[in-house]
Amino acid sequence: MATLFTSELEEGMVTLTDTYSNSGKLIVPKDTVLTKSIIQMLSGNDVVFVDISDIVEPIVESQENDLSSALDTEKIKEKPQYKKFVHRYEKSISEMGDHLNDIVYKNAPIDVDMMLQNTMTTMKALNDSPLSIFTMLSTMKNYDDSTFNHSLNVALICNIFADWLNLSEDDKKLITACGLFHDVGKLLIPDAILKKPGRLTKDEFDIIKTHPVKGYQLLQKNKLDPHIQYAALMHHEKCDGSGYPIGLKGNQIDWCAQIVTIADIYEAMTAKRVYRGPISPFKVINMFEEDGLKKYNPKYLLTFLEHVVNSYMNCKVRLSNGEEGDIVFINKVRLSKPMVKTKNNFIDLSKQTDINIDSIL
Ligand SMILES: [Fe+2]
Ligand SMILES: [Fe+2]
Repeated sequence: MATLFTSELEEGMVTLTDTYSNSGKLIVPKDTVLTKSIIQMLSGNDVVFVDISDIVEPIVESQENDLSSALDTEKIKEKPQYKKFVHRYEKSISEMGDHLNDIVYKNAPIDVDMMLQNTMTTMKALNDSPLSIFTMLSTMKNYDDSTFNHSLNVALICNIFADWLNLSEDDKKLITACGLFHDVGKLLIPDAILKKPGRLTKDEFDIIKTHPVKGYQLLQKNKLDPHIQYAALMHHEKCDGSGYPIGLKGNQIDWCAQIVTIADIYEAMTAKRVYRGPISPFKVINMFEEDGLKKYNPKYLLTFLEHVVNSYMNCKVRLSNGEEGDIVFINKVRLSKPMVKTKNNFIDLSKQTDINIDSIL
């Protein structure tokens, strides 16, 4: 261990302790690999000394950012991997949509393997690309908001969420299937209500709230794995008992439903809806940080949020003050408030509390 002047810091050094600004705010957590941007930010904050461990990590290219390397939606749309993913995604939506309609309207038996196979092939197209699922879905954010798209998106998120939770391959398949079928009951709700552009009346909302039970009954009739049935029944339940249809609490909620709920809410809020545009992922993360720990299982929620935020490293964003910049540093204690590098400045959103990330560009 060594305590070094900020002027002596070099890229690749690892912080041994948390580093605070003169006003007492945490600006660099311990175990952070220093990059040029972070060293500049430390001296910009008048930090004099930093405790450094003996370990020196190689700098990964993507940890150092400048405006020219930022990911940007228009550039992503030109990438062949993006086009390949969209092509595969649309094919899956079409095949899965046909099958779901057959299940609901023609009483066809549910082919879980076919549905999973389609999801995995879409995931494979994603894994062949260096872009994360969240960058892909943000880039496609103006896509159709049908139940089919939503279900596939939630299944893809559940699939990667299972990896973050170190689930077994069998559980990963199970949780992906839970994501695929969680909203199947919505296919039994009239489109006039589901796609109503205005505010729902209480009666209409009461009809929407029947979809978990309707989905559960359909899946039960088809004798699907009980966890898939419970995920459909319980994905609107909340750990504090404020959810529906039953008002279950904590561990009364099936563990698969607890995972699907987080993926479901994140997907629904960041996607376009008939009555509103997509909400910035960082606003959704902020909402989860503010009241999520009561409503969702913290073990699942914190793992999810940390990985989602990390996937936006390097992304170009627009701030609420109108400036554009790149996310250059993630604040582990306030995930929705990263450090953003603008043309002339570093803005620490955990300190500049009047500025937010309005959108991913
Ligand atoms: Fe739902
Ligand atoms: Fe949903």
